[in-house]
Amino acid sequence: MPSTIPVCQQCISPACRATYSVDEIRVACDRCGNLLDVAYDWPRLRVPGALADFEQKWARRNDPHCFSGVWRFHDLLPFAPLRQCVTIGEGQTLLHPSEGVARYAGVTPGRLYLQYEGLNPSGSFKDNGMSAAFSHARLAGAHRAACASTGNTSASLAVYCSVTRLMKAVIFIGSGKISYGKLSQALDYGALTVQINGDFDDAMARVQEVSKQLGIYLVNSVNPFRLEGQKTIMFRVLEALGWEAPDWIAVPGGNLGNSSAFGKAFHELHELGLIDRIPRLAVINAAGANTLYELVERRGLRWNDGQPNLDVADRYYDEMDAAKRRASTIASAIEINRPVNLTKCIRALQWCNGVVREVTDQQILDAKAQVGAGGLGCEPASAASVAGVKELVAEGVIGPDERVVCILTGHQLKDPTATVAYHTTDQEKFNEVLGSRGVRRAAFANRAVAVPNNLDEIIKSIKLYS
Ligand code: F0G
Repeated sequence: MPSTIPVCQQCISPACRATYSVDEIRVACDRCGNLLDVAYDWPRLRVPGALADFEQKWARRNDPHCFSGVWRFHDLLPFAPLRQCVTIGEGQTLLHPSEGVARYAGVTPGRLYLQYEGLNPSGSFKDNGMSAAFSHARLAGAHRAACASTGNTSASLAVYCSVTRLMKAVIFIGSGKISYGKLSQALDYGALTVQINGDFDDAMARVQEVSKQLGIYLVNSVNPFRLEGQKTIMFRVLEALGWEAPDWIAVPGGNLGNSSAFGKAFHELHELGLIDRIPRLAVINAAGANTLYELVERRGLRWNDGQPNLDVADRYYDEMDAAKRRASTIASAIEINRPVNLTKCIRALQWCNGVVREVTDQQILDAKAQVGAGGLGCEPASAASVAGVKELVAEGVIGPDERVVCILTGHQLKDPTATVAYHTTDQEKFNEVLGSRGVRRAAFANRAVAVPNNLDEIIKSIKLYS
């Protein structure tokens, strides 16, 4: 760590630990190629004595940095001076207890909460990380930003560009791999949208090459500053629970930025003595995009205190390529087979005594319908967290009385196609969108009632069905 500034970028490998200045733009260690952390020399920084000290910010909500659900926790991600930090009002989100969803998952009502990140300005959790990436980009003097995306990162990048005018957005998407809700946002906010003939994994590889060659600031979650912003989702969960750690955090796993960020958040809070117990992490893959599950639960990939057995992952990727296997799930947000944050995520699993599960598209859509009916709506990927908790309760890994928080990562309106197909009476539509993905039934469908345009008939139907 350079001696004058108490913050740096640092290689995550304990064998390397190379450091770089905080105002450099990089996404990997020059020396060994590993991912980077934002690392703080905490004793030289001003950290609150207790998490409850953050409550003082509530009285100053007319200050945009106190209003922001990210920057009111600036003391726990102090990589840039607060006046430089970019906010568009992100992080006004809600921890909502849902009795209906608790019952569905087999958890005692009152013990299951949904952390609803769909309330962010672009409708997903990505805005937490984007505000931090933009703050760093401003520090580093960047003027163009790029990402590969399954949709939400691009929507978030695009809205931050359009509101702040700090950078111009270039987004890479796999053709046909993004829901209309998300694509419409990127287009409407004016981002340059590049459709690649391929999937997210292809787009991710390309955007890294392009941004390196053209010197464009990369905002995917390989950017360590993104994850600093995403730590605040956990700070808000603790805030909503009166600063008491829950027993479990369940989160969908795609590129594994969230799970990595949550692990870092809890590890730092614990080291700082601000929490005395670290919640367990449950990372939930879609079965059609289950790299993390396969590697951790079936093939024994572990962080091993910084000496991960990554040869296991290399072999798996070789097998995947040889078989030309591609990610495939209705939960398009997490349709990812090569998660860029794999090593950080397995570190988080060690820190948080975590587990990984996979759930089918059928389980995801049933859970999504339950979330819609008994909580706040979400997009398919988000519901994987609820479906995963149901599995873990059935296995006895999560006890019914344990306090569980499921992260609802994206808004219900992000992917109307999946929702309408689930509830439809049109069998052809159902088969076209869902049948091809192994979804056989819609147990919780809320079907529209077809009636002639006739007052008596309409009244008769309402009486019959209500
Ligand atoms: N849920 C939603 C709604 C997402 O959009 C994503 C990721 C995830 C979960 C997975 O989160 O990557 O932190 O494990 N979407 C990215 C995108 C990949 O491009 O919008 P993760």
